[in-house]
Amino acid sequence: MKTVVITGSARGFGLEMLKLFRKENFNTVICDINDKAIETAKDELEKINSKGKILAYQTDITKEEDVKSLIDNVKKEVKIIDIWINNAGVNQPNKPIWEVDKNTIDRLIDIDLKGTIICSKLIMKVMIEQKHGQIFNVEGHGSNDAKILGLSLYGTSKRAVTYFTEALAYEAEQLNTNVLVGKITPGIMITNFIHTALGDGEQIELDEKTKKVYNILGDYPETIANYMVEKIINNDKNNVKFTWLTNRKAAWRFMTSGFNKRDFFKE
Ligand SMILES: NC(=O)c1ccc[n+]([C@@H]2O[C@H](COP(=O)([O-])OP(=O)(O)OC[C@H]3O[C@@H](n4cnc5c(N)ncnc54)[C@H](O)[C@@H]3O)[C@@H](O)[C@H]2O)c1
Repeated sequence: MKTVVITGSARGFGLEMLKLFRKENFNTVICDINDKAIETAKDELEKINSKGKILAYQTDITKEEDVKSLIDNVKKEVKIIDIWINNAGVNQPNKPIWEVDKNTIDRLIDIDLKGTIICSKLIMKVMIEQKHGQIFNVEGHGSNDAKILGLSLYGTSKRAVTYFTEALAYEAEQLNTNVLVGKITPGIMITNFIHTALGDGEQIELDEKTKKVYNILGDYPETIANYMVEKIINNDKNNVKFTWLTNRKAAWRFMTSGFNKRDFFKE
């Protein structure tokens, strides 16, 4: 039985991916900082018929000791960790960079960038020993260098996640580790992320123009998880990038937006 660990998987995109892995009889490991959400996520996973185990650990990915103990605990339960997805991530308050306070800067960079680096480094060693495994990092706004007002800090972290992932894939290959590293680019997902900064921090007010764009380009996380999980399970290449919202798809969505009746923000 194969095992997948997804960080930030007590809700949103991470949980939707875990559900699909469970359907494929993977052992699924919930890793999240939010203990209440972990309980609900476990209940949701239990509803799905599967031969796989469900494991869950409250973990703050910014703390190396938390991640180490998660890995140790998982390895006590299963022999091999086949897939690790660095998905935990938080949004920023919708403000220009000079209005963002230092605590917010520290916390966002700690989670979105340093958390990904810490987890990658620790799981890489495990996978090198196993001589097998895949690591995926979730990209986001900024990964492709685009700029949007009020998203510069988040964009900086995701731009760095992109570089880091490519560099990790390069090292993994050059040093013959047998570990595959890749990127997941989900586009816009209608999750808590778009409404709250720093995980469960301050509310983000979306203006009408932003809502309109989200209604055109956005999708529920299950749709995108469906696309990604199949790609991940069938992947056998290093340095891949799986993109949901391609430029072509985005252009098509805008061209056909007159027929688009979706409203994710209906009261
Ligand atoms: N929602 C979008 O439009 C969108 C678009 C592109 C990329 N992304 C990225 O997708 C990923 C998942 O986002 P989502 O939309 O499902 O968000 P979400 O807020 O629904 O889920 C994120 C999860 O991460 C967890 N988390 C936060 N800090 C953590 C920490 N320190 N340690 C462990 N877990 C922590 C949260 O508790 C939450 O369960 C993130 O990396 C995000 O940057 C999101």
